[in-house]
Amino acid sequence: MTTPNSKNAADKHRLTGIAAGFANSGAPVDVQIYGAGHIHETFRVQGEKGNPGCILQRINRRIFPDVPRLMENIVRVTEHMRQRLAAVTGSEPDREVLTVIPTRSGKSHLIDDEGECWRCFRFIEHRELGARPGTPGQAREAGRLYGRFLNMLADLPAPPLHETIPRFHDVERRLADFQLALAADPLRRRAAAAAEVAFSSERAEEMQGTMAEARTSGLPWRVTHNDTKFNNILFDARGRGLCVIDLDTVMPGHVLYDFGDAIRSAANSAREDDPDPQRSRIDMAVFRNFCAGYLGELEGRLTPLETVHLVFAARLMTFVIGLRFLTDYLDGDHYFKVRRPGHNLQRARAQFALLADMERRSAEMETIVSRLAAGKPV
Ligand SMILES: Nc1ncnc2c1ncn2[C@@H]1O[C@H](COP(=O)(O)OP(=O)(O)O)[C@@H](O)[C@H]1O
Ligand SMILES: [Mg+2]
Repeated sequence: MTTPNSKNAADKHRLTGIAAGFANSGAPVDVQIYGAGHIHETFRVQGEKGNPGCILQRINRRIFPDVPRLMENIVRVTEHMRQRLAAVTGSEPDREVLTVIPTRSGKSHLIDDEGECWRCFRFIEHRELGARPGTPGQAREAGRLYGRFLNMLADLPAPPLHETIPRFHDVERRLADFQLALAADPLRRRAAAAAEVAFSSERAEEMQGTMAEARTSGLPWRVTHNDTKFNNILFDARGRGLCVIDLDTVMPGHVLYDFGDAIRSAANSAREDDPDPQRSRIDMAVFRNFCAGYLGELEGRLTPLETVHLVFAARLMTFVIGLRFLTDYLDGDHYFKVRRPGHNLQRARAQFALLADMERRSAEMETIVSRLAAGKPV
């Protein structure tokens, strides 16, 4: 008979066996569930004394079906950043960029006997922080680190990276998906979401139109992170930004995606799924400090067209993510995990409340960005 304890022991045994398939020096001593990621299953593998251990991840293949291409991107990106860092005196490449630990046969990932894919990164000691910055300094550091990330990958040699999730932040694609879900309305949820449907319809044209125009005017493609949440940065014990992690969506994109998603997630005064939309407001102190870190790092890198679209980008990404929550609600909650009835609708409401607040405070936000871009204090 399998008791919970014997099942745990069997799981541990299995995980230790998988960890041993990677070329980490020494035998794994313990394996434990780790972190608060939403996509993969993440474990911390503890090594023998003196060994930093590693992070073992079972890759979510529902979201990333093509694991070889995904890992090819990550290996290229991390090796490039490592080279760039090696040229900087005082840098610590082992802590400032992820290190992919290959399997014992030199592969980027391991396929187990159930067909599941696993990968391993060197463990980076860090201080656990929350989902949003706790101090102005942390917001500034987040901006600096994401700015540095963009800088370090600006000269990644050809060929272009694989598109791991096609048209991930493409507003046209997200609007088309939304229209399909709205027309199908499989669970008859449309009436409950009438206010949010109206809110998004009122903004669809502006979002789509502004983005199309920016592209026609030459908005550059860059290597972007595309999932610039605050908790995808590791901080050291003294509170300095150390390393950008979660590289699954690093691919060709616009700087607007990185900047906008970072503001949407870090500069929200409430949790992403706060049930009271009144509380979702733009936190101007976080906005100002993130911008100072980001633009300080990217001085001379961004084109004027990119800079003038940054405040729009914060609204765009808040719109796109809100729309994806709304689409998933209408569709029957297939993509985002829900913990209560109407969870995705609440999330959409919270994003749209944040967007409405950004609209009210756009002029202030524009002043901050243009002063910083001109090298003036804010
Ligand atoms: N190399 C690493 N060293 C230390 N902790 C890590 C490392 N990589 C990931 N983590 C931790 O694991 C969590 C989940 O990892 P992440 O790659 O962001 O997965 P997800 O895509 O599921 O969010 C992170 O939030 C972080 O706490
Ligand atoms: Mg993550």
